[in-house]
Order: sequence, then C-alpha cells, then structure tokens
Amino acid sequence: MIAHFSAISLLLLYVGFLSRRNRMRHVTFQMTSLACDIAIVIILESNRSVVQKAIGSTDRLLLTHIALAVTALLQHLLNLITGILIWRTGTGRKIHKLNGLILIVVRTLVTVTAYTVVMR
Ligand code: HEM
Repeated sequence: MIAHFSAISLLLLYVGFLSRRNRMRHVTFQMTSLACDIAIVIILESNRSVVQKAIGSTDRLLLTHIALAVTALLQHLLNLITGILIWRTGTGRKIHKLNGLILIVVRTLVTVTAYTVVMR
C-alpha cells in the first residue's frame, strides 16, 4: 500500500519534470510530489513496528532503501529552495537542474527498493 503511494508520488515527480517549461504546472506537480513524500515519512514514523524494524537493522536492502529515501527527501528540499530562488531572483538554475536530474534517478530507486522490501 505505502509502496503504491510512493509510486504515485514518483509519477507526479516525472510529470512535474516533463512540465518544466510550464512554470505553474511544474511547481504544482513538484510541490505535490514533495508533500506526498513528507506524508509517507509521517505515516511510516507513526507506525511503531516500521520504526522498530528499521532501528538496529542489519538488512542491507532495507538500509539501502532508507539511505536512498533520506537522500531523495534532502534533494527534494534543495530543489524547493533553488526553485524558489529561480522564481524570485532568476539564479540557482544550474544547481536546480543538476540536482533535479540526480533526484529523478535516486527517487526512482527509492520506489524500486520499496517494492522489493515489501514483496520479497
Ligand atoms: C519542489 C519545488 C520546485 C520548485 C518551486 C521549482 C521551481 C522551478 C522554477 C521556477 C523553474 C524555472 C521555470 C521557468 O523557466 O520558467 C524550474 C525549472 C526546472 N526545474 Fe524545478 N522546481 C521544483 C522542483 C523540481 C524538481 C523536483 C525537479 C526535478 C525532478 C525540477 C527540475 C527542473 C528543471 C530540469 C528545470 C529547468 C531548468 C532549466 O531549463 O534551466 N524542479 N523549477
């Protein structure tokens, strides 16, 4: 279930990326995708069994998934900041673009590993 939510958020990220020439649509999709990712963190954090499973785990796949998810969230926040910068001052475009491209790869891996973790 939560993996499906992650996939929907990823889809929003792809559509937002493809809409990058349309500023309003781009920002709307990317902000919604970020909101979904934050909601996923809140849902997981409020589930005690998930938190307990992660703490002290030696499961390499689970740890890889968590590391990717944290990286993606930080990258998403960086793109929010640089996106606002582009909007207000016109600067930060280079970082925004590069970080966005890496984010697409990292965020895709987050969803792939999420499905692998829940389906194995
Ligand atoms: C999270 C909130 C975000 C905000 C507020 C935001 C804002 C913006 C703005 C204002 C632009 C300039 C659009 C224009 O030229 O009129 C832009 C461009 C762009 N954004 Fe975002 N963005 C966000 C997230 C993302 C994400 C998550 C990605 C990648 C997946 C991304 C990738 C891009 C790319 C590739 C461009 C085009 C840059 C260029 O051609 O120079 N953005 N964004």
